[in-house]
Amino acid sequence: MSSNAVIGSPVSRVDGPDKVHGRATYAAEFKPEGLAYAALVLSRIPSGRIKSIDVSLAMTVPGVVSVITHENAPRLPYKEMKKRPQVDPKAGGQLRVFQDDKVLWSGQPIACVVADSIEQAETAADLIRVTYSPDAQAQTKFDRALGLKPAPEAEADGRPGETQRGDAASAFDSSPVKVEGWYLQPREQHNPIELHATIAKWDGDHLTLWDKTQWVDNDRAEIAHVFDIPQDKIRVISPFVGGAFGSALRTWHHVHIAAMAAKMTGRAVRLELTRREQFTNTGSRPHTEQHVALGALEDGRLAALIQEAWGQTSTYEEYAETTLDPPRQTYSVANNATRYRLVHMNVNTPTSMRAPGVATGVFAQEIAMDELAVALGMDPVELRLKNYAETDEYKSKPWSSKELRACYAKAADDFGWSRRSPEPRSMQDNGQLVGWGMATAIYPSHRSPAQATVRLHRDGHVLLRTAASDMGPGTYTSMTQVAADTLDLPVEKVRFELGDTDFAMAPVHGGSITMASVGTAVMAACQALQKKVGELAAASSGGPFKGAASDTLLFQGGGLALKNGGGFTPYGEFLAQHGLEWLDAEGKSEPGAESETHTSSAFGAVFAEVRVDPDLGTVRVPRLVGAYDVGRVINPKIAHSQCIGGMVGGIGMALLEMVEWDDRYGRVMNANLAEYLVPVCADIVQLEASFVPSDDKIFNPLGVKGLAEIAISGVAPAIANAVFHATGKRVRDLPILPERLL
Ligand code: MOS
Repeated sequence: MSSNAVIGSPVSRVDGPDKVHGRATYAAEFKPEGLAYAALVLSRIPSGRIKSIDVSLAMTVPGVVSVITHENAPRLPYKEMKKRPQVDPKAGGQLRVFQDDKVLWSGQPIACVVADSIEQAETAADLIRVTYSPDAQAQTKFDRALGLKPAPEAEADGRPGETQRGDAASAFDSSPVKVEGWYLQPREQHNPIELHATIAKWDGDHLTLWDKTQWVDNDRAEIAHVFDIPQDKIRVISPFVGGAFGSALRTWHHVHIAAMAAKMTGRAVRLELTRREQFTNTGSRPHTEQHVALGALEDGRLAALIQEAWGQTSTYEEYAETTLDPPRQTYSVANNATRYRLVHMNVNTPTSMRAPGVATGVFAQEIAMDELAVALGMDPVELRLKNYAETDEYKSKPWSSKELRACYAKAADDFGWSRRSPEPRSMQDNGQLVGWGMATAIYPSHRSPAQATVRLHRDGHVLLRTAASDMGPGTYTSMTQVAADTLDLPVEKVRFELGDTDFAMAPVHGGSITMASVGTAVMAACQALQKKVGELAAASSGGPFKGAASDTLLFQGGGLALKNGGGFTPYGEFLAQHGLEWLDAEGKSEPGAESETHTSSAFGAVFAEVRVDPDLGTVRVPRLVGAYDVGRVINPKIAHSQCIGGMVGGIGMALLEMVEWDDRYGRVMNANLAEYLVPVCADIVQLEASFVPSDDKIFNPLGVKGLAEIAISGVAPAIANAVFHATGKRVRDLPILPERLL
């Protein structure tokens, strides 16, 4: 295996040409016969009931096929599931769309028009007249006093949790050096370029969904439960996803609406959310307020670490995040206490967004660590090394691998950290305040069971299939490389297909688990194919391989040979000799004992330079340097791209991104890309990412740890710490708006 070393080489994206030439078909672009178009009407109050809904004018618009409201929608079974899907909150129940007159948030779908064209549907939707009985008790303000009491972590099962080791409160009280503060992470909105869209088409009792999703198998399971139909009557197709960042993990109610509308009208129906609709219907990073208290000895060793978080959720579900895992694991500290609380509000349920929870927890923790370094008069890197966690003290387990020291050293060196003058406001250039700051990055590595199939064809190419997704990180390409490497084939001889429930089972494409989960299944499928080829060879009636023991065979250069050098036969010829058009094999992989005995995690160190205008308070980021331990790197080109993409997201988190919430009306005020700010090219100057040597074969046979969320982790606090160094002003509320610096 791997004599041609495809793994580790910078292969260009195999799906790149299709995307550039417009041949990649996204969910909204499929054109089943008789396609009709759906437009939504959203609620305009945060809480209450619909008093009346008048659709008579809408029905007069030419081309209108149907108007669906709670008054005429079929009552759906919502069959009980033993367990909610892994990507759904553990407590509460999803929105049952159009099933009653209740309004639970402003921006909730309350009607849907189906018409021959999208213009007709939107025109009719505008003509629907709604009156409400508003609820005077609407919970539109974030109020920490309403935080649900946390449970001991062992009992929490994804709900508000609480952990303790040692006695953090008294250790903090008696610490000679202390810092304490409140940190605000505002609600943020995923804004993938591709809008969420579903096309639903019924053929008798069989449903096809073309959907933007990070998990086709769960889409199918979810719709089967909502409509109470067998899973084998549903096919979900999703070959390309134009970004998602977590917004397409769950199967949201617009997918239910599309399937319902197609059923009611007997047409194929397309429902594509508008940018505005997406802000209140596909989750968001929850508004989270945190309190951090750090106590240290004079030499910098942490004596106490207390971190508490209050996160917002909806009135109908408890969406809890792993915000407090970083403060339990990142540093060595004997006295540690964390408490997570949820605040119910009249909002749509939040969801995972890029390093969900972790990025939020790391943001507060890493600014607090910088504050402690200042209080101690200690270098921020030295402080982190002083408190290096040799083991995972939260789970009391060894790390399966950890090269964080190398990350600090590499990134500090690449950045030129030794030239930093520690005093705030001491580095200025051309009237601008220059600041250098850093932070640790961490994101857990997990894997889930996965399967893949492989078919070897006579022309010597192989076709790999699994139900995995590729929302942009390069699944098509990296899986192609794993197959090519295992089979010793050139990448041109491998075709990889994904995003279809007809393919072998794959887990959710999120939480950075795809490479460790699906990659190992692809490797297993290719090994199973080699085994089959070997068995066939040994059983042949003549020729060089007759009766050959498996350990005498060599799979090399797209064919089979004997290890002693003889008998090379290309696969195509081999299949022909055996009278086969193709040969199929399948592989599966799943986590083993290591998931019990070890903790696996990706790590990184991020260094930032900022320039702050002292008069205007504007912050520019001329430079970010990160070094990462992500296990083995399958494709350095795509891995680098993933990391600098995460850094751009981190710049957004630090300086720009914020859902503007009007708590008088409980409304999102900036539900568009003109007013919800994300970094643009002009905001990005120099981004450097590198990978330290790492290969985690304890975690999985590919040695990868997962590379996605780690790229945003730590970026915002590194920038915030650089801003403090530049200005002497500590900003603990994101984003760092100019007015917060003046
Ligand atoms: Mo990512 S938030 O796991 O899609």
